[in-house]
Amino acid sequence: MSENVFPVPPQIAANALVDQAKYEEMYARSVSDPNGFWGEQAGRLDWIKPFTKVKHTSFDPHNVSIKWFEDGELNVSANCVDRHAAATPDKVAIIWEGDDPGDSKKITYAELKDEVSRFANVLKAHGVKKGDRVTLYLPMIPEAAYAMLACARIGAVHSIVFGGFSPDSLGARIEGCASAVVITADEGLRGGRKVPLKANVDAAVAKLPVVTSVLVVRRTGGAVAMTEGRDHYYDVEAAKVSTDCPPLAMNAEDPLFILFTSGSTGQPKGVLHTTGGYLVYASLTHQYVFDYHPGEIYWCTADVGWVTGHSYIVYGPLANGATTLMFEGIPTYPTASRFWDVVDKHQVNIFYTAPTAIRSLMGAGEALVQKTSRKSLRILGSVGEPINPEAWMWYHNVVGEGRCPIVDTWWQTETGGILITPLPGATALKPGSATRPFFGVQPAIVDAEGKILEGATEGNLVITDAWPGMMRTVFGDHERFVQTYFSAYKGMYFTGDGCRRDADGYYWITGRVDDVINVSGHRMGTAEVESALVAHPKVAEAAVVGYPHDLKGQGIYAYVTLMTGEEPTEVLRKELVAWVRKEIGPIASPDLIQFSPGLPKTRSGKIMRRILRKIAEDSFDSLGDTSTLADPTVVDDLIEHRQNRH
Ligand code: WTA
Repeated sequence: MSENVFPVPPQIAANALVDQAKYEEMYARSVSDPNGFWGEQAGRLDWIKPFTKVKHTSFDPHNVSIKWFEDGELNVSANCVDRHAAATPDKVAIIWEGDDPGDSKKITYAELKDEVSRFANVLKAHGVKKGDRVTLYLPMIPEAAYAMLACARIGAVHSIVFGGFSPDSLGARIEGCASAVVITADEGLRGGRKVPLKANVDAAVAKLPVVTSVLVVRRTGGAVAMTEGRDHYYDVEAAKVSTDCPPLAMNAEDPLFILFTSGSTGQPKGVLHTTGGYLVYASLTHQYVFDYHPGEIYWCTADVGWVTGHSYIVYGPLANGATTLMFEGIPTYPTASRFWDVVDKHQVNIFYTAPTAIRSLMGAGEALVQKTSRKSLRILGSVGEPINPEAWMWYHNVVGEGRCPIVDTWWQTETGGILITPLPGATALKPGSATRPFFGVQPAIVDAEGKILEGATEGNLVITDAWPGMMRTVFGDHERFVQTYFSAYKGMYFTGDGCRRDADGYYWITGRVDDVINVSGHRMGTAEVESALVAHPKVAEAAVVGYPHDLKGQGIYAYVTLMTGEEPTEVLRKELVAWVRKEIGPIASPDLIQFSPGLPKTRSGKIMRRILRKIAEDSFDSLGDTSTLADPTVVDDLIEHRQNRH
């Protein structure tokens, strides 16, 4: 790993919000006096009823309970929209850049207020009330932000499902939170190709009587089936309501959204975030991590279907009155210069993307970057997976021409906002390290027994005390919340990530230590892919592991045992890939499938995943002791027919 150190560039230090001394001082205060620190920081929001209590949290596994600002009242949409519409009505809130480079528009804060209020009135007209769940299955269009903020305005709880998920996955998520209303578009548009969103919704809700209204935003104008009484075009409904909708006073601990995410076992769980603490945290991190100055153009390339889109396209930036760019397309359409063309077109100052995108653009060559100016860029960011030092250096030298600090931000759906990260004016950078904890975040590294390790060390990453942005529960299953995050190491939040800390106290995330794999920055549970595979009539058994993949970070490697009499053919291999795409969605497509007559199991029948991971990595000379296997010869066959060879 690279130990190059990049000091804070002087032109950044000159007007950064915090320097190193201020970071140390603020951090020390945030952990020694969390009530004082967060009580003050919460003043960045408008409260309808001020809180009198700040932190009230417990990580005790017998009584996990997380409450912040618990007697305060506020409204998220009032904070993200109305107060800026009043102060700076003509300021651009959202720059929308369409899939087609000729298609873009700007939405001011005044316009945003009207659009959000109108959307909220449509939801009300369809019976949505405080506490009701609403599922969003939308492309990256401004209506996605309007719909999110409209829910927040009336106290409804949104659950966004990424547009790349299949009808089955969508249906499970609609059912998982019992949404009566689903918001979608006729079709999405990505890289010039149409995505049949409405048709997917039709397939998903066919067997779900819980869904009473489907609102369809017209994006492409393509012809779609409309079920009488259930389906309504959004524009038709919007024409019937006013743009006046007062925001509802919400308790700080009222739910804001649910986001389903993959874990190491079972089906995805509904991560629940609430109102006050989440917004304070999203807003504070957005301002400090990106050193956001008023007037700057900020662009996060994530999709609103993931947590990054929630916190750092919509809630954080808008709470700060920023101008946030929302991009409908993909990095390689019409050419692999698109990101840099958009940076020039809209004079983007802060650019936040994922390592997988950097690696793929790196492969397209420097000329495509160099033909653009990028002079407006000041800060670069990375999120979603560990960034390898080669990609970091390319991002830094080629994209940022050596002048822009890179904030490598580590966090999770569960954490609500960034936890470990550099601050541009405060932190010297080391390529591949997420560096230091944000204010109020107390990371620790533990060994397998949960003993806290000091100094330079490596182990499992835990967080020892609560922060305002963290999830509050798993929707409808608090016990699962406790089991998943607080039972491995008593009294601590377990992240599922491995981590190294160097002698300077810098954190280096080494990747998941559980059965979650990270494919192009998207989280996937191996159990989900396995259950999709075994649902195929020709499959008897399946085991799925991750393996290092040059572009995606990790690829999906599936070991499949067929039913007796089935032939392992290329045709069947393709059929299984297509099957998983249909069951879960394209992001779950196995990269490699190995047909194996048997899987390595202990005598008690447990699959030895460690061995499968090693073989998938093509590093099987250190397999360890295989003598305890029920049938040690299985391993030789697996090695002989391995699919990933260097
Ligand atoms: C990984 C995305 C290394 C990590 C915000 C985490 C990272 C999982 C980084 C959460 C980073 C995210 N460096 N690893 N900067 N950021 N991860 O829930 O394994 O989609 O646990 O949230 O992504 O993924 P999620």
